Amino acid sequence: MHLQGKHIVLGLSGGIACYKAAELCRAMVKEGATVQVVMTEAAAQFITPVTMQALSGRPVFDSQWDRRPDNNMAHINLSREADAVLVAPASADFMAKLLHGRADDLLSLLCLARPIATVPLLIAPAMNREMWSHPATQRNVAQLRADGSFVLDVGAGDQACGEQGDGRMLEPEEILEDLIAHFQPKVLQGRRVLITAGPTFEAMDPVRGISNLSSGKMGFAIARAAREAGAQVTLVAGPVALASPRGVLRIDVRSAQDMLQACQAQADASDILIATAAVADWRSADAAQHKIKKDGSGLPPELHLVENPDILATLAASARGRSGALFCVGFAAESQNLLELASAKRVRKDIPLIVGNIGPQTFGQDNNALLLIDAQGATELPRNSKIALARQLIARIAQYGIRTIS
Ligand code: C5P
Repeated sequence: MHLQGKHIVLGLSGGIACYKAAELCRAMVKEGATVQVVMTEAAAQFITPVTMQALSGRPVFDSQWDRRPDNNMAHINLSREADAVLVAPASADFMAKLLHGRADDLLSLLCLARPIATVPLLIAPAMNREMWSHPATQRNVAQLRADGSFVLDVGAGDQACGEQGDGRMLEPEEILEDLIAHFQPKVLQGRRVLITAGPTFEAMDPVRGISNLSSGKMGFAIARAAREAGAQVTLVAGPVALASPRGVLRIDVRSAQDMLQACQAQADASDILIATAAVADWRSADAAQHKIKKDGSGLPPELHLVENPDILATLAASARGRSGALFCVGFAAESQNLLELASAKRVRKDIPLIVGNIGPQTFGQDNNALLLIDAQGATELPRNSKIALARQLIARIAQYGIRTIS
């Protein structure tokens, strides 16, 4: 329930994308928000207030002359109650209207009347690609941003008009993720965060290899939380079956050596490294070019292994070499003696912070419990969802006063 206790005014202006607003409304309610729908006259041409009332569980407002409010000031009441106003879809015409501070219908009126310092305005544009790329629209987007509105991205692809290009409204789940992110404190604004996640896969032959049961969920949750906190996030992921968090640059790799290379290419331009990957300790010294076959002797093949590079320790050491601007956070997955083993690992890898967790209780799960260990001691983050823990960890990392290299 990422929007528990939040009250959102969901504004619909006219556009085919109104059909997506129905799903968006439902998704926001599912996340715990109360949703008050406000529609323009044009929006009601595309989807009925009946549908939006049923999904939000509240009568829709669609007129500035609505006599239901005792004071007859719907624009004031609705905008004072809201934690945010989200206009989705926002047509080209509606954005132009907002830009000029016009207020000739209830939705534009309440956008103008909202307390600008406390009630953010999020705008999800939706229009034909020519309308989107038109200099007038682009000028309006830039000015709306300069005026303090949050104009979300648009999607690309097939458009209802049959053309292809930029301008589609984002999908409901993408808008939802952006809205949830909006409410998170921006404790890492502008920081560049590099995250490793998932297992690595070390080939023995073209079809087999050494790997482990890491699902990547913890690392992906941390990537999402870092982005929500305002960071620029690069996520170097081993083979996992997870969708990328929004707004995160993802680099897919397979082996530990690939992961090291990808990280080295990013490290100089990063302020923080969070190494959650469960990197395979060993790889085959001589991976076979063709599938290894049974030879009938009943004896297994001899496997020669060599140790993989320690990505975290390597990056931490080279950052120290160039004056230590990379704040390094490690993870330790243990099966026992968490405090003792993780503390020793922190010292051995010479990093300021290590996060201990019990391997069998985290791999593949949606919940986890963390033990944060630094030079001062240990702090427990009790069992919770991985995204909740990730947000707590990011808040903690932000307290270390990390220097930004530039
Ligand atoms: O030594 P151990 O594998 O237990 O250390 C765990 C920490 O070190 C994790 O942060 C993990 O991502 C990182 N690590 C690494 N490269 C390795 C092994 C571990 O970056 N080869």
